[in-house]
This record gives sequence, C-alpha cells and structure tokens, in this order.
Amino acid sequence: MPNDTPANPGKFYVTTPIYYVNDRPHIGHAYTTLVADTLARFHRLAGEDVFFLTGTDEHADKVAQAAKERGKPFIEWADINANAFQAAFAELGYTNDDFVRTTQQRHKDGVTRFITQLMKTGDVYLGDYEGWYDASQEEYITENVARENNYNSPVTGRPLEKRTEQNYFFRLSRYEDRLLAHIEANPHFIRPEARRNEVLGRIRTGLNDIPISRAVGPDDDDWGVYIPGDDTHRVYVWIDALFNYLTIPTCPDTPGRRRYWPADVHLIAKDILWFHAVIWPCMLMALGEELPKCVYAHSYWIREGTKMSKSLGNFIDLPTIRAYNDAFGGDAMRYYLLTQGPMGVTDADFAHARFIDTYNADLANGIGNASSRVANMIAKYFDGACPAPDPEEEVGEPQRLAGGVAARVASCMGAIDLERAIAEGLALSNAVDRYIHETEPFKLAKDPANLKLVGHILYTAAEALRIAAVVLAPAMPTKMADLLARFSSPVEPGQTFESACAWGLLRPGATITKGDPLFMRADPAAPPPEPATNPAQPAASNS
Ligand code: MSP
Repeated sequence: MPNDTPANPGKFYVTTPIYYVNDRPHIGHAYTTLVADTLARFHRLAGEDVFFLTGTDEHADKVAQAAKERGKPFIEWADINANAFQAAFAELGYTNDDFVRTTQQRHKDGVTRFITQLMKTGDVYLGDYEGWYDASQEEYITENVARENNYNSPVTGRPLEKRTEQNYFFRLSRYEDRLLAHIEANPHFIRPEARRNEVLGRIRTGLNDIPISRAVGPDDDDWGVYIPGDDTHRVYVWIDALFNYLTIPTCPDTPGRRRYWPADVHLIAKDILWFHAVIWPCMLMALGEELPKCVYAHSYWIREGTKMSKSLGNFIDLPTIRAYNDAFGGDAMRYYLLTQGPMGVTDADFAHARFIDTYNADLANGIGNASSRVANMIAKYFDGACPAPDPEEEVGEPQRLAGGVAARVASCMGAIDLERAIAEGLALSNAVDRYIHETEPFKLAKDPANLKLVGHILYTAAEALRIAAVVLAPAMPTKMADLLARFSSPVEPGQTFESACAWGLLRPGATITKGDPLFMRADPAAPPPEPATNPAQPAASNS
C-alpha cells in the first residue's frame, strides 16, 4: 500500500494533540501521550531516529477568558497551566523530544509564514461568513449538524449562536477531490477503519470553504497570531494549533528536523478527527507538503461505566493517576491503560475491579510470578549462575514461540496495535509457565543425574523471559529494565530491538538475581487507592 512505504526510512515522527491549557491534565491527555510514548520507545529501540512531539494549545478564547476572570495577564495564566502539563508528563516518564507551546515565538513565526504562503497562492482569502457557532467548543457547526442537534452543541449541549463575521477563509473546497482520492488510495491513512468510513461519508456530502480567522475585539489583550498584514484578525485557534505539527520540524533554528516531516502518526481521539483527517491534510496540500502517513483516532476513557465530565467532577485526574502509580507502580498503570484502553471504536472503562484483575492475572501472577519462579530455581539448583542450554535436548515451546517474535511485534507496532504487541510478550511468559508446569524441573532436580536437563529447562525459561522483557520494555520501561538487570542482560547501547530478541543472548554463567517480586499481588477486596488529600495542584482549572 502506498502510504506504508516510509518516505524517510529510519525515522519516526509521532505527535499527540496539543492540549488546551484551561484544563488540568487528566487521564485522557495522559493516555494519548502514553500511546505516543510507547510507540516512540519502541521505534527508538528498533534503531530509528525518533521525534516525539506533544505540547499545549494556548490561544483559545476560553484561556483568555479564564485569565481575565482572574485578573491575570494572558501569558501568566498560560504559563502556569503549560507548566502543569510539562510537569505531569515528566512525572509520568514520557520521553517527548520537544514540547511545543503555541505561545512560543518559533511556533507563531511558523504560522505567519504558512498563512502568508497560503494568501499568496489564493488558498486564503477575505470573505463574509454566517453560521452556527458553538462557543463551548470554539467552532462553527454546519447547518445540518446544527439542525440535527436542535441548534445545541453536539458536544456540550449548550445553545449554538448565529454569528456573522468578516473572515479570512481557507479554500477547502479546492481540495475535496484530491483528499477523497488520497483517502481511497491509502486505506491506512485514517484509522481505525470505522473512523475512515465516517470521514469518507461526510466528505462525500461536500466540502465548503472554512473561516480561519477571528476578528479582534475592542477589549481583547494582545495574544494569538495575527493574520499577516491585518492586525484586526487573528488566526482561528484550531488552525493555529494544527500548524504545530509542522512549525516545529520546519523551524529555521532547528534545520535538522526537516527530515522528520511527514509525520508517521498523528495520535488523537475521535473528538477532533475532522480537523486532523480533513482540514489539516487539505492545508498541507495547499502548502505543497507531504501528508502524514496516518491519523489514528482512538475512543474515550470513561470511569466506572460513566462518562467523565466537568459537571460530574469524576475525571481521573493527575492525583488519582499518582495514587495508582504509588500503589501499583507506574508501569502497572501503563500496562492497564495500554492493554485495556480505547484504541478501537468503542470507549473503554477505567474500573478499579478490572484494573486489579488485569494487574493480578497478567503482571503479579503472570510475568512477575514466572520470573520469580525461574530465578528462585536457578538460585536453588545453580547457585544463581545461569545454567547452559543443552543442544542435545528438545527445543521447548518458549523457544519456538520466541522465533520470529521481533518481526511479529514490529508488525503490530507498525499497525499501531499496541495491545497485540504486548500480548506477544505476555504469551512468552505464559509459555514459560506452561513449560515449567509440564517439564517439572523442581521434581527432576531431586535426582542429581538430571542436573543438565534441569539446566536446559531453566535456561529455556530464563531466555524466553528475557526476550519477553525486551518485547514489553516500551510498555513497561522501568520494570522490564529491572527484570533484564536481574538476568544480567540489559539491552546494550547499539543493540536493536531485533538483535535483542534473538534467541541465545543470555550468557550461561551470568548472575541471575532473585530480588523482590516484580509485581506484588494486589488484594481485590481492598478499596481503590485514594488521591492525597492535599496534592500539589496547579492553580489552574475550571474543571
Ligand atoms: N487543543 C485541541 C487539540 C488541538 S491539536 C492540533 C484539544 N485539546 S484537548 O485538551 O481538549 O485535548 C483533546 C484530546 O485529549 C483528545 O483528542 C484525546 O487525545 C485526549 N482526551 C481527552 N479526553 C479523553 C478521554 N476521556 N479519553 C481519552 N482521551 C481523551 O482538543
């Protein structure tokens, strides 16, 4: 398929939405950024040159409004909140290579450059606009959508306003045919498939030109990006925001980053698919830029069966995430979010009971228990020194399963199917469990004559677990690094994912350390961990 052939092989550019700074970071923001982080870690391990970008979207009316209400200059308010996002992502261990803020000069200069170019080509022009404005979402709604929703916001249910303004327009209609052809020719451009079909259906009803500016009000502070040559209009926040994906890799201060474009994956949720799958690609066509390889729109997390909302105040916020991280370890939380999350078209439930079930089944009783058992037996029968495999002995199931695992995982990661990639790692540790159950090395070890066979079995088990740890490292970097250190087999600098997954790298004689359980079993009857009563909160939020 045409879009599966990378334009610049060996590089990988992944983005997240840039988040509004009027909200405190919550699980939704943490989740999309976690998926990006896991992909970035995998592609780095695979030896690729990775660029992982996240950031904050700051020029929204609601940010200016919130600053005004608090009597603060716009930028002071934006700083507080952008810092809260940056601190949260650092605390969660995300490995973004840059953090863009739309208030940064490097971004604003880029937006000015691109809009200037689009004015020159005639893709941006001045005209009149009348339409239904959803103030709660800061976007215009088409007549059809407005009517279907009884002239209320389809997202928040608040009444729509009829607005007329003079605006600069983007000539979206000019690109309808080319966009349709592109989506049709590239089945993986919009994922998952059901989302692609939604977008295709809507494009086929026709694309109109869209307003891309807002008039500057008399009391407005100086913020946002002005339309080049017209300081009575600012670039509409959504257009300003979309450009971030390109302003950062094309910033003249960092020329080496040009090679990252086009983005390999724009990760987003379903709420902002139209902007990313239609408006953004058309703007890129107008600019003569290549299109991103994939726009992946996941669904939503809900909590204990209920939609999270400001009015219910039931967001899984940073203090709650922190409470889970403290109780079970950050990697357990990553595992739960990545394996039970809403990557498909249905929403996923963050339910405490499900968290505990998953944690106990896959981590405490799964890879954690398998690695303790194997390390304990090596301690007991071989004094903690890794035994040697016996080439005369049968190849065990774990070894058979490990064959080709690197290629299978790479293919899942390429398809952004993290759940299946992770399942490959877990399958290895499950195979080790079964293998030990069937071969019973603990019984064989009673007769010293069997020591060579016991050594072979334990080598097979330990080596399969080492490979499982490599496979699972992008999802659970801390715990898997710990497991690899216990097996004296860290992934060496320069080693790639594929070479680290090769069978037989575990050195006979290497020290195998028992250590504490990697994942302590959790009590299903215990109440969910409580967020600290007085957590260090960023000052900002209207949630
Ligand atoms: N600023 C715009 C995006 C501009 S991108 C050029 C915006 N910001 S946002 O703060 O509202 O973030 C929306 C994104 O947050 C979603 O697309 C998704 O990535 C994430 N999530 C917000 N709530 C979520 C859930 N309940 N579940 C999963 N992710 C969700 O829109």
